Amino acid sequence: MGYGEVYADWAANPDAFWMKAAEAIDWDRAPSHALDDRNAPLYGWFADALGNTCYNAVDRHVEAGHGDRVAIIHDSPVTGSKERITYADLRERVARLAGALASRGIVKGDRVIIYMPMLPEALVGMLACARIGAIHSVVFGGFAAPELAVRIDDAAPKAILLASCGIEPGRVVAYKPLVDAAIEMANVKPETCFVLQRPQAVATLVEGRDFDWLQAAAAAEPVPCVPVGGMDPVYILYTSGTTGQPKGVVRPTAGHMVALAWTMKNIYAIGAGDVFWAASDVGWVVGHSYICYAPLLVGATTIVFEGKPVGTPDAGTFWRVIEEYGVKSFFTAPTALRAIKREDSAGNFIRDYDLECMKLLFLAGERADPDTIVWAQEHLKVPVIDHWWQTETGWAICADPAGIELLPIKLGSPTVPMPGYDVQILSEAGTPAGPGELGAVTIKLPLPPGTLSTLWNAEARFVKSYLTTFPGYYETGDAGMIDADGYLYIMARTDDVINVAGHRLSTGAMEEVLASHPDVAECAVIGVADDLKGQLPMGFVCLNKGCEREPDDVIRECVKLVRDRIGPVAAFKSAVVVERLPKTRSGKILRGIMGRIADGQDYKMPATIDDPAILGEISDTLSKVGLIKNA
Ligand code: COA
Ligand code: AMP
Repeated sequence: MGYGEVYADWAANPDAFWMKAAEAIDWDRAPSHALDDRNAPLYGWFADALGNTCYNAVDRHVEAGHGDRVAIIHDSPVTGSKERITYADLRERVARLAGALASRGIVKGDRVIIYMPMLPEALVGMLACARIGAIHSVVFGGFAAPELAVRIDDAAPKAILLASCGIEPGRVVAYKPLVDAAIEMANVKPETCFVLQRPQAVATLVEGRDFDWLQAAAAAEPVPCVPVGGMDPVYILYTSGTTGQPKGVVRPTAGHMVALAWTMKNIYAIGAGDVFWAASDVGWVVGHSYICYAPLLVGATTIVFEGKPVGTPDAGTFWRVIEEYGVKSFFTAPTALRAIKREDSAGNFIRDYDLECMKLLFLAGERADPDTIVWAQEHLKVPVIDHWWQTETGWAICADPAGIELLPIKLGSPTVPMPGYDVQILSEAGTPAGPGELGAVTIKLPLPPGTLSTLWNAEARFVKSYLTTFPGYYETGDAGMIDADGYLYIMARTDDVINVAGHRLSTGAMEEVLASHPDVAECAVIGVADDLKGQLPMGFVCLNKGCEREPDDVIRECVKLVRDRIGPVAAFKSAVVVERLPKTRSGKILRGIMGRIADGQDYKMPATIDDPAILGEISDTLSKVGLIKNA
């Protein structure tokens, strides 16, 4: 069957389509049906099934005689170490860590926060939680202590799994003091921390609360997998929304297993024994789905890479890993390719390696610019597939389904909707847009298995954020269009989320931090175009009346404040002091226009602007400090 037939097959009978896909999973109790629409517009999938994600990702492969197959390869150019972990080893490590968690009273439904760099133990921790039905919440290591504290208070974890440090090029980031500070700030106090001690920064343990991870696991009895309900969450993953309060995306167990297993074969063309590499981080959804769960669910080998695309040690690092381990499908972010291209535009490093093993390259996380795609096509000589999805969906909404049929690639488009997704472009009034017409990108409900069921502790926010603007549709927050061939184009976000080096960040959250500075009366943060990272945040602050301080000093403090409160990942480094912010007559800050000015683009004067002269002031100020692009 080609893509058109598979999509039509799904559309004709979604229940039958997903029940068939569910046969790839070993259930403790098989589902009797797929969709549960009793609570519409909140939907469930495989609600009466019983199963365990860790069993399907690990144990069943060992029981089927594949214990010697490599499950995880760890490659760490920043520490100079490499390790291969077989499925049998993995089961042993996971079952013992699960035993250690159980011995500390952690049971099904309890939450566990994981704050880890790119080590195989991050996956061991996730799987150990899944094994006992505990719900993990991985927090990206580049977030600062206050962000971690917000997540601790929301998820109310009984335990935290962490490594003593992460390693960024040129510096060791001690994680333990960050976790200690976050626990100090949080109202909820986790009872247990398991600390993986790394020689680069050995952590001091707090008596009675902190335990050495490896010693605790070695001393524990391995425990078996606990069957959980189809709708029981396997994890919560916090993502940026429009305010400083992150959204806790809840991922139910059964749909997650079914959908991810389906994608490995049909999108990524990967099966048991193949080597798959997603060069992302476990702290992001790509890391959850495609470093940890999906490759393991199908018995493939996954790579955990602790390094950067450039500088660890050079722009050939990705190609070295692909050759050394025989990677068949490779997944990265466009920004990583841009970083490589900037250092090696002629592709000299690429020619140093034999990349015959690599059949497909996948890109996601941000818009893939045509220049980068063409560069990769020319130098790597494989199909370069842009695919579009979000933390909320957990897997690709639109892609080129290489495992079914490789459709012609159109530059700038992540191709076509995957089965399960009825993607529609709607006008502000909710009417369907025609081919090539720009509008809000929406998905007709229900969303397919594997997508979020709700937001943790925030059902009303879930409904308000995603299901209210267009009744009967899920609002993606992206704007775009569909062409006459059914190809989707994503053009922009409709909210204040920006995408910095493939990392999703909220400008609203940064504004909250700036507003807390004692000298700041008012502020705005916008995303400006950046050749490497796609977008970078830029701040505009108005000082309190009578404030006599040097603007540069206030800016320096603002930059530090964002780094300390949100984290280095925010990459907030540019800000200016301005007299006034441009607003509409009703007081809404005109962020879009400020972005166009900073990007050096033309703009139309909005009819609703309160005082047009302010735009000239903004432009002059940015010019003076050299912050206008292409000026
Ligand atoms: N722990 C602590 N700090 C971290 C961190 C972590 N896990 N990850 C990033 N940081 C820090 C970095 O050290 C850097 O700090 P600095 O401002 O002191 O230099 C800051 O956060 C920004 O990091 P990063 O976004 O990685 O930028 P970079 O300039 O170091 O590297 C790229 C640029 C393009 C090479 C890099 O962003 C990259 O590889 N991006 C791909 C992202 C990706 O895969 N996203 C997943 C979506 S699919
Ligand atoms: P995240 O939840 O971090 O994965 O970010 C999701 C958002 O990143 C999407 O809503 C888009 O705005 C953007 N995004 C992800 N992948 C793509 C892509 N292939 N093309 C364009 N935008 C993308």
